[in-house]
Amino acid sequence: MSDTPELLHAQTMRDIDFDGNCIVIADRALPAALLDALPDPLLVHGGEALKTLRSVEALAEDVLRRRSSRPMTLVAVGGGSVGDAVAFLASILWRGVDLWHVPTTLLAMIDSAHGGKTAVNLGTAKNQLGTWYPPSRIIIVRQCLATLDTRLRMEGMAELLKALWLADADTTATLHASEVEDCVFDSFDRISARLLQLIDRAIDIKRDIVGQDARETLGIRRVLNLGHTIGHALELTSGMGHGEAVAWGLATSLRFSRDMGMPAAEYQHLMQQLYPLLRPIPDMPDEQTLLEAMKRDKKHNDDALHSVILLAAGKPSVTTSIMAREWVAAFVRTVREITAMPVEIRVKQPRPVTITLEAGKSELNRALIIAVQRMGRTRILGRSEADDVRHLVQALRDLGYPLQDTADGFLVDQSTGRLEDRIGGEERVVHAGEGGTTFRFLAALCCSSLKPTRIFAAPSLLRRPHEALFRSLRSAGARIEPFDSASGSGIVVQGWEQQPGMFSVEAEGSSQYASALALLSVGAEHPFTLRLLSHPSSSSYFDMTLRMLHHVGVETIAHGDLIAFNQTEGLKKDVDITVEADAGSRAVWVAASMLGHPARVLPPVERSLQPDSAMDELAWRIRNSSEQELVLDLSLTPDLLPLLAALSAGLRKNVRFTGLATLPHKESDRLHAFADTLNDVGIAARAEHTDLCINGADSHLRPGSRFRTLADHRIVMTAALLALVSDSIIVEHPWCVGKSYAAFWNDAREAGWTMLPAGSAGDGE
Ligand SMILES: NC(=O)c1ccc[n+]([C@@H]2O[C@H](COP(=O)([O-])OP(=O)(O)OC[C@H]3O[C@@H](n4cnc5c(N)ncnc54)[C@H](O)[C@@H]3O)[C@@H](O)[C@H]2O)c1
Repeated sequence: MSDTPELLHAQTMRDIDFDGNCIVIADRALPAALLDALPDPLLVHGGEALKTLRSVEALAEDVLRRRSSRPMTLVAVGGGSVGDAVAFLASILWRGVDLWHVPTTLLAMIDSAHGGKTAVNLGTAKNQLGTWYPPSRIIIVRQCLATLDTRLRMEGMAELLKALWLADADTTATLHASEVEDCVFDSFDRISARLLQLIDRAIDIKRDIVGQDARETLGIRRVLNLGHTIGHALELTSGMGHGEAVAWGLATSLRFSRDMGMPAAEYQHLMQQLYPLLRPIPDMPDEQTLLEAMKRDKKHNDDALHSVILLAAGKPSVTTSIMAREWVAAFVRTVREITAMPVEIRVKQPRPVTITLEAGKSELNRALIIAVQRMGRTRILGRSEADDVRHLVQALRDLGYPLQDTADGFLVDQSTGRLEDRIGGEERVVHAGEGGTTFRFLAALCCSSLKPTRIFAAPSLLRRPHEALFRSLRSAGARIEPFDSASGSGIVVQGWEQQPGMFSVEAEGSSQYASALALLSVGAEHPFTLRLLSHPSSSSYFDMTLRMLHHVGVETIAHGDLIAFNQTEGLKKDVDITVEADAGSRAVWVAASMLGHPARVLPPVERSLQPDSAMDELAWRIRNSSEQELVLDLSLTPDLLPLLAALSAGLRKNVRFTGLATLPHKESDRLHAFADTLNDVGIAARAEHTDLCINGADSHLRPGSRFRTLADHRIVMTAALLALVSDSIIVEHPWCVGKSYAAFWNDAREAGWTMLPAGSAGDGE
């Protein structure tokens, strides 16, 4: 068998000339347009589960049922997982049968299909068993690229950039960062010509390097590990995809390149190219975990850690002088530095998109707290990748609640026995991140346990006021002590011996205080009464809590400042909680469409519990206003202020927003700070007591001005929106949108925004 596979190209699957010897094995999850063109394929479930000895054995039996004699050609049609498993089978079936690869992902096209490595996993350890077995033929089918989603494109582009950086200084120098961004986010028709050129270059490079060192005996192939030293450890420990993790590995390696003398301009160019491929790391592993993963990896090479550093584009160098812990430290600094970089936002060409929204985080977090306290079975229909939700889900699991994932949400089944924490014991540890509801709801929930619970929280969250809630919980018998340690800060909570029959709370600082206490009624053994010593700010969120409680079986009776909570038999019944799509995320696109963007949002938010669902009406009133100064009361929807302010400026309307009493409280006078930041970019804004006045007619957005977003996710999205009415805008702390709308930048880029690091990509330390 030749070690240099024949490389063919086809427009569509139908153009492939499968001969009578071929047995086609394809990923059953491929789009129908691809599968329908294949001659009687054996269908397999792609992914890591296919890469096991058991699956390969089952596949071998299926193949032998089709044919039991040579000649035979196994044709792997799918991504890298199908390629690895089918190639492994081809190498051992009758000690080797002919093999073709038809790679269908970008990553497989440019990387895994070439190189002759086959692999299956052993338990959770990846690629432990394998053979060298190059295919005789690799067929690149253009049609496959058209159906790849942004994530699969992003993963492939990371390996593609790596190949260019290793061996094509000219293409690297001329490839603009926005082209990389387009290759991921633009429609395939628009980018296909450029993408296909880049794919051809990447394949040539990989084939050339592999051709010089087919079995990795000469050390030449080592350069292909650029970005993989950290990338592989991150993939193993964070649940990220291979290409996503490699992108962070490449970013980390650039740091060493800079230290070793790569000129600043080249460093910045490469960082800009890479930036569109960097995705937030959902579960950032700690340094020790990464180190151990790297050490496990290292054993397979030899004792030294061989790492690849780019001295300049086209000039990789293999070194053993960088220790594993230096890689990990550099990675942590790189993540911090990149996520803090301000970005320049432009809207090159607004593109029609259909935005699919996740579940609303406010409702979802309430649903989760309710579900873990109910006795009946609770099905939650709705999911979200928002940081605030992910932290709460993880914390509840860490506390021992049986919270299961389902295809469309979560399931908590405590019908045969509820988690009871009425006895003391070892300290429990959870992390609340930056989420107000996450932290406050957890603090109250943990008061129902005698076990001490250490709740870590982000410094920015701890700076917000919580004392009114803590006072209320303490006077009910709980202990709540702040702590500040080398590993972080937060509170330690220890619950009451017996829950009291009455809570009192000063609710004006945040409606979340009253909600956190009200939610305890689900798990309480006896009815209790809540006295609101002051009216909850954003009372619509408190109403949301009461309505959700009613839905699951808690009756409430309000009288003056007292609310009585009575548990009914309904709490023991099975219940579904359907969580609406996030009205806050939707509001961004409502504002965008009012400014002329052709966006369509799914699913619609209809009969909503969420205050932000008032956006349509408020935005419509601004657009149609002919008044000298329109007055809008936002006391029920203060979170919409940033978007509505930007919309007023964009539509050149004068609007006075009233009822913003809670904003000055939230952190140090946010209303004035927000007015200042609007003025800085050319929007005429004035804070007056609890009002904010926007003079849209006198607003002149200055292109390229810098929006100080106060690390507030809503303000960041607002700033991005302003790029629709300005040539460009610099946005600080862009990554904080993950708090409520994790996919925001992906959606915005698909809708035609570009987002690239602004100015210097310097160290910032
Ligand atoms: N052998 C090697 O040298 C090598 C190198 C790198 C990675 N790998 C292996 O490759 C695997 C990852 O490969 P992958 O990223 O291609 O993932 P994959 O094979 O797991 O496929 C990912 C998903 O992409 C979908 N998909 C594939 N083609 C599609 C298309 N044209 N349109 C729409 N959806 C499509 C699949 O249905 C699947 O759900 C890992 O197992 C990794 O270990 C091997």
